Amino acid sequence: MFPIYLATIPVPVKNYIKKLDLKSTKYMFAIATRAGSPHRAFIDIEKILKKRGKHLDAYFTLNMGNNAFVPIPTKEEIAELESVVQNRLDLIQQSIIIKKKLGKRHPQYDSSSFCLCSAPTHSFIYGSC
Ligand SMILES: Cc1cc2nc3c(=O)[nH]c(=O)nc-3n(C[C@H](O)[C@H](O)[C@H](O)COP(=O)(O)O)c2cc1C
Repeated sequence: MFPIYLATIPVPVKNYIKKLDLKSTKYMFAIATRAGSPHRAFIDIEKILKKRGKHLDAYFTLNMGNNAFVPIPTKEEIAELESVVQNRLDLIQQSIIIKKKLGKRHPQYDSSSFCLCSAPTHSFIYGSC
């Protein structure tokens, strides 16, 4: 689980994935948090994993209350996002427990199954997913 930076994975996360011991790994998932822009994080992770004969079985994106860019969301918008995120976390948890394979295989813009654009500020800045 990692934040989206500049539409992809932060460099430390990239380096971490490269060092992972994946010999006995049977199921892999990733969860990205973001302010709300499209991103290519899962494509970039898949590129790294492919070189090691692995792939992501599921991936999810959660919109968080933006604290990096203006306009900063209002308390009401944050509460709305938080409520959606909590619901999605339940679904994500259930999927991971049963090792469900999710996600489109062509995540050009991560919308994934769990793209969450609900707060007005997010829609205003990034449009709908
Ligand atoms: C340097 C930097 C770059 C970021 N780039 C993006 C971006 O490209 N797209 C996006 O949706 N959010 C971007 N964000 C927002 C973070 O993804 C967001 O703050 C984070 O996922 C929320 O987790 P936090 O509450 O731990 O900060 C960026 C944040 C920072 C600090």
